[in-house]
Amino acid sequence: MTMPSADGSDAAGARPAPAGTAAAPAGTFTIGGDLPVHRMGFGAMRITGEGIWGEPDDPDAARALLRRAVELGVNLIDTADSYGPQVSERLIAEALHPYPDGVVIATKGGSVRPGAGQWVLNGRPEHLKQACEDSLRRLRLDRIDLYQLHAVDPNVPLADSIGALKELQDEGKIRHIGVSNVNAPQLDEARGIVDVVSVQNRYSVSDRGSQDVLDACEQNGMAFLPYFPLAAGRLTKPGGALDEIAQAHDATGGQVALAWLLQSSPNNIPIPGTSSGVHLEENYMAATLELSADEMAALDSLA
Ligand SMILES: NC(=O)c1ccc[n+]([C@@H]2O[C@H](COP(=O)([O-])OP(=O)(O)OC[C@H]3O[C@@H](n4cnc5c(N)ncnc54)[C@H](OP(=O)(O)O)[C@@H]3O)[C@@H](O)[C@H]2O)c1
Repeated sequence: MTMPSADGSDAAGARPAPAGTAAAPAGTFTIGGDLPVHRMGFGAMRITGEGIWGEPDDPDAARALLRRAVELGVNLIDTADSYGPQVSERLIAEALHPYPDGVVIATKGGSVRPGAGQWVLNGRPEHLKQACEDSLRRLRLDRIDLYQLHAVDPNVPLADSIGALKELQDEGKIRHIGVSNVNAPQLDEARGIVDVVSVQNRYSVSDRGSQDVLDACEQNGMAFLPYFPLAAGRLTKPGGALDEIAQAHDATGGQVALAWLLQSSPNNIPIPGTSSGVHLEENYMAATLELSADEMAALDSLA
C-alpha cells in the first residue's frame, strides 16, 4: 500500500485512487433496507473552523474535499446542525447540491452550540422539529434520508424526543430515523417506538465501550456508525500498538484502525473525519487493506 503525499501523489509518485474506486472495496450496507451505501462514509464535522466553530479557513478547499470524497466513491456523508453550527450542512449543500444519485446525507439534531467548545443537549420535541426544518432548508432537501437524534437529553423523556422524530417521519420530512450516543436500554426503548435503522456511537479498535450496542445492531440489522474511528486522530500517530501491523502492510496506523472496523463487523460503517485532502485519500485506501486472522486477533485483544 502506498501513501499519498502533500501534492496528492503517493510516495512512489503514483496518482491517488481513481474516482469511484476507493470506498467501494469496503463493501455495501443497505441502511433501513433501501439506502445502499459503501461501508466507508465521511464525517463532515472537521470541515468547519477550529473547535468545530465557524467558517473553515478555506471554504473552497472544504467544498473541494467534499466533492473529492464523493468522487472516491463515498456515498454516506455524516453531519449535524451543530457542526459550525450550520456551517458543515451549508458547505455540503454548496459543494454537492444537486446531490448525485445514491448519495445519502445523514444529519443530526438535538445538540446546540451556545459558543465555541460548548455542546448543550436539547431533545425537546419543539426544538427537534425546528432543527429538522432548518436542516432541510440548509441541505436543500425535501426529505432527509437519515435523521439522527444526536444524543439523549437527560432532561427530556427519550420517548418524547423519539416521538418528535416519528412525527417528522410521518410528515415525510425524514426517511429513516437513527440514534446516537445511546446505551443498550435506550436503544431498546427507541426501537419500541419507531423503526431505528442506525446507531452512531463512539467506537474504535482502542475503545469498545459500545460493544453491546454494536452487537444489538448486528442482531437486528441496523447500521452502526462508529464515530472517532481514529480515536479523534490518536490512532494515526506513529509509535502506537498498531505500528507493527501497519508496517507489515506498508500502511499507516490509521488505515489499520479503519480496516479493523471494516473486518470486525459487517454492520460497521466508519465515518472518518478530516479537513485534509491527503488524509482523505489515505483513509479510503484502508478499504483495500486485508488483515489476516492472526492480525485481527491481535487487534481484538488490544482494548
Ligand atoms: N455523534 C456524535 O456525537 C459524534 C461525535 C464526534 C464525531 N462524530 C462524527 O464522526 C466523525 C468522525 O469523528 P472525528 O472526525 O471527530 O474523529 P476521527 O475520524 O477519529 O479523527 C479525526 C481526526 O483525525 C485526523 N485525521 C484523519 N485522518 C487522518 C490521517 N489519515 N492521518 C492523520 N490524521 C488524520 C483529523 O485531522 P485532519 O483534519 O488534520 O486530517 C482529525 O483531527 C465526525 O466527523 C462526525 O461526523 C459524531
